[in-house]
Formats: sequence, structure tokens, C-alpha cells
Amino acid sequence: MSGPTPKKVLITGADGLLAQAMKALNPSGFTLVFRSRSEFDLQNPGQMAGQLDALQPALVINTAAYNLVDKCEVERDLSWAINATGPQALAGLCAQRGIQLIHYGTDYIFDGAQRVPYTEADQPNAINHYAAGKLAGEQAVLAASPHHLVLRTSWLFGINPIRSQRSYIHAIVRQALDGKPIRATTDQQAAPTYVGDLAAWTFELAAKPTGGLYHAVNDGGLSRFDWTKEILAAAQTAGLISAVPPVEPVTTAFFNSTIRRSTYSWLSNAKLTASLGHPLGSWKTGMDAMLRQPLWPEAGR
Ligand SMILES: NC(=O)c1ccc[n+]([C@@H]2O[C@H](COP(=O)([O-])OP(=O)(O)OC[C@H]3O[C@@H](n4cnc5c(N)ncnc54)[C@H](OP(=O)(O)O)[C@@H]3O)[C@@H](O)[C@H]2O)c1
Repeated sequence: MSGPTPKKVLITGADGLLAQAMKALNPSGFTLVFRSRSEFDLQNPGQMAGQLDALQPALVINTAAYNLVDKCEVERDLSWAINATGPQALAGLCAQRGIQLIHYGTDYIFDGAQRVPYTEADQPNAINHYAAGKLAGEQAVLAASPHHLVLRTSWLFGINPIRSQRSYIHAIVRQALDGKPIRATTDQQAAPTYVGDLAAWTFELAAKPTGGLYHAVNDGGLSRFDWTKEILAAAQTAGLISAVPPVEPVTTAFFNSTIRRSTYSWLSNAKLTASLGHPLGSWKTGMDAMLRQPLWPEAGR
């Protein structure tokens, strides 16, 4: 006897970190179809409509985004087209066809004026162009259908097996291996989130009849400075570095960034925890798992 028909899911941004984690997860009960930027371009509504009609998925998961926060200030039109206008068009196309859309937002939409973890009910205040575009995108998705879902996440890390693009953990381990000075900010605080966990929560939610806004981050917020020290200690335990180098505490101003960044964007994950019915777990578990794998998989090819 055959079981229930798997739910067909179209995943955009196929080459990105989160899409690749979904491919590795390969959750049961779903048939995943991946589309890269050239095949499903958020800037091309005609192409998106054609793909939706040809594939007829039950669910679209939009992992595609323009994530280079500093470059968003320069590439203002392009980043807005990918982070705001594109998701708006996709959300409308999905709603017209009765297809649910899951989309991702960012902690950067909060300005840091608050000092307790931000809930879904707290008021965003975007203080840079990346945040403004991502906020407009998530608002358009939620407005298009009560069935659409937005998961806000933060400080995403993991290994993308097909891209040389690297997470913060890669950058810190590389600096330690190269003997370079390591400096990290004491005035930025958020919750690191393991991409494998975010992928798993996404499919748990996709199996439920729910829509709306969720904060999807691992348990435990801390400063970049404290996170950096945790990364180095774990890298030593994993045998990647022989000793833990010193970390110099600095403030955001040290890096001479031209854009404003939030000093506090720790998201409360209480709503998602209650909805899934289990703790979301510490980011440390994901970090330790990541450090046991080849960090630079393409180097071995
Ligand atoms: N990474 C983080 O720390 C972080 C934090 C908060 C929220 N998020 C959100 O989490 C989600 C997943 O992020 P991620 O880290 O997996 O992103 P990622 O690794 O940067 O992947 C994004 C993908 O989007 C694709 N893309 C760019 N422009 C596109 C377009 N016009 N049409 C279709 N695809 C396009 C990119 O393709 P190409 O590479 O071929 O251009 C890339 O493969 C995003 O919504 C992101 O904003 C991420």
C-alpha cells in the first residue's frame, strides 16, 4: 500500500546556503525541486509565472535574497528589486494560484533600542537599506495571503558545499589558521542560527496548517565578541587549531562601516518553540557538527 503523496516544493535560490541545507536534509513527505537564479529569477515575474504553471508546486520556499549588507547601500535599486519587489511579485503569483509561500526575513529590521529579545509583536525600525528592503519584502509577502509564512532569522551559519561564499565561522577559523589578529565587536548582539536547524524547522512548519510571522533562531543570544571566543574554543576542541588566539574587543565603529548597524537584534523564538512543541536547541550543537566536517569542501576537489 502506498503512503500519502509527497508535497511538491519549489525552492528558489538553489545555490545558496539555506537551499543547499534543504537539499542535504531531504525531508520525508516532500518532493523538492530546486531552481537557481537563472531558472527562477525574482526580477523576472514572467519567468516565475511560467515556472509555477509548469511545475504546479503545493509550496514555494523562497531562499533567494541579496544579502551583502554593505553593498545594498550602493546597489540600492538592485537590492530593492531582489529583497522587496521580487518577493512581492512572487507572493502575488503564489496567492493567485493557491500556492503557499515561505519567505525569510532578518533580525536587522530592529534598531536595537530594546534590550530584551524582540518578539513578532515588536515594532521594526529599519536603519539601513538592506533592512528596509527586507522589511518591505516580508510585509508584502504577509499581505498577499494569510497562508504565506515569513521566518525571520539571524547570523546564519553553515557549510555551502557548492560555493566559496563563507560564513562568519569560516572567517574566524581562517584568521586563526593564518595567524592574523582577530577583532570582534562587543556592541552587536544577536542569536547565531545553524542553517541545518532552520531548514528542519521550515519543513516542520510546512507540515502544519499555519501562516504568518515567526522568529526562527537558535536558543542563546550573545555579542560577536563572545561568539568569536566560542568559535575559537570549539575549533580547538575539533582539532582545527592548536591553540586559541586572543580576541581583541572592539566596537562597530572600529571597522569604519559606512552604514548603521543594530547593536541588539536578538530575536525571541518563543512563538516558534511553542508552535513546534519542542526546544529549538542551542546554536552550539550546529557549530560543533559543522566543525567536524571539512570546512572548505571545494579545496579537496
Ligand atoms: N545569511 C545570513 O546571515 C542571514 C541572516 C538573516 C536572514 N537571512 C535570510 O535567509 C535567507 C537565506 O539566506 P542564505 O544565507 O541562504 O542566502 P545566500 O547563501 O546568499 O543565497 C541567496 C541566493 O539567492 C540567489 N539570488 C540572488 N538574486 C536572485 C534573484 N534575482 N533571483 C533568484 N535568486 C537570486 C543567489 O544566487 P547567486 O549566488 O547565483 O546570485 C543565492 O544563491 C535569505 O532570505 C536571507 O536574507 C540570512
